[in-house]
Amino acid sequence: MKVPVLEDLPPLQGKRVLLRADFNVPIQDGRITDDLRIRAALPTIQWLEQQGATVTACTHLGRPKGAPDAKYSLDPVRARLGELAPKVTLLENLRFDPGEEGNDPAFVAKLVEGQDAYVDDAFGAAHRAHASIVGPPKTLPSAAGRLLAREVEVLTGLRESPKRPFVAVLGGSKVSDKLGVIEALLGVCDTLVIGGGMCFTFLAARGHRTGDSLLQPDQVDACKQLLADHGDRIKVPHDITALGPNDDVRQVGADVPDGWKGLDIGPGTAAEFADVIDGARTVFWNGPMGVFEDPRFEAGTRTVADAVAGCGGFTVVGGGDSAAAAAQFGVAGRIDHVSTGGGASLELLEQGDLPGLAALREAPNAHG
Ligand code: 3PG
Ligand code: MG
Repeated sequence: MKVPVLEDLPPLQGKRVLLRADFNVPIQDGRITDDLRIRAALPTIQWLEQQGATVTACTHLGRPKGAPDAKYSLDPVRARLGELAPKVTLLENLRFDPGEEGNDPAFVAKLVEGQDAYVDDAFGAAHRAHASIVGPPKTLPSAAGRLLAREVEVLTGLRESPKRPFVAVLGGSKVSDKLGVIEALLGVCDTLVIGGGMCFTFLAARGHRTGDSLLQPDQVDACKQLLADHGDRIKVPHDITALGPNDDVRQVGADVPDGWKGLDIGPGTAAEFADVIDGARTVFWNGPMGVFEDPRFEAGTRTVADAVAGCGGFTVVGGGDSAAAAAQFGVAGRIDHVSTGGGASLELLEQGDLPGLAALREAPNAHG
């Protein structure tokens, strides 16, 4: 599993380094709403510059379809990076070229031209076998940057040597996206806590009515099997905050009446989840408990965020929505590790490896 780190690169004085970063930051009306992913790359950039290297950074932003698209312009990112790391040059959005997602050798050749070394600090994209991730290590001396190395250390640590009890908290809308990671987590955690839209498929599997809540009928059997095999270690909500036909909001039990839509875990469930989290020595949290962007349905996610922040154990928050929730509720600074990767952190927990890591292990400087 060991990937080469910055110290494994040849001397960099006067050399040019291609840095793959994940500056895929949220942007609204042309303004960056959270620059965590840019700030997170600074330790690597500073180290490279201290060694005397000239850094060219590259990133994707959004999901343009292999052609330039003003909507995904890197201008706001370039401006922010210019404030934080003025000497770094930033290439055009990688996904404006179809060669990026197509992992086209010709596009890789363009990226590495004139470069002496490659550093991957794009943890959030390390699960993508795209040109800028897996291509450069085939020819250039390569290394994981500080951010990528730390993410790997923390997340593989959860898989391999968590302090117990280890409580995993999962939310988000689709259980189908998370079945693999649920199974992997059940193999290593002591308690799995389930909230968010996906809890309704588990509630349906327990025979509850789900009203108009999110439900994946084709996943009910898979949830039934998980509950049959591990039910004593899986916690699902016993009350729900629901939105009614006349836009009224009410607490209901584990059964959601017809015409009602569950949009948050209820206060009793939130308190129970907080208790479980409080007693943990390791916590991994990914996915909100409800529609926290709406103040009527934020309480469950807020309670969980506060509990994770207050937990005396080692706490890790997966990227994406849960990192945004931790920021929104002002607790991110009290969490031991807020991952910059959503999909990547889940895939690393599930598989124990990522295409970007495998590529670094094959780099020319990796074996010596
Ligand atoms: C992310 O935001 O999850 C990463 O930057 C990866 O983006 P992608 O899901 O569009 O590949
Ligand atoms: Mg702690």
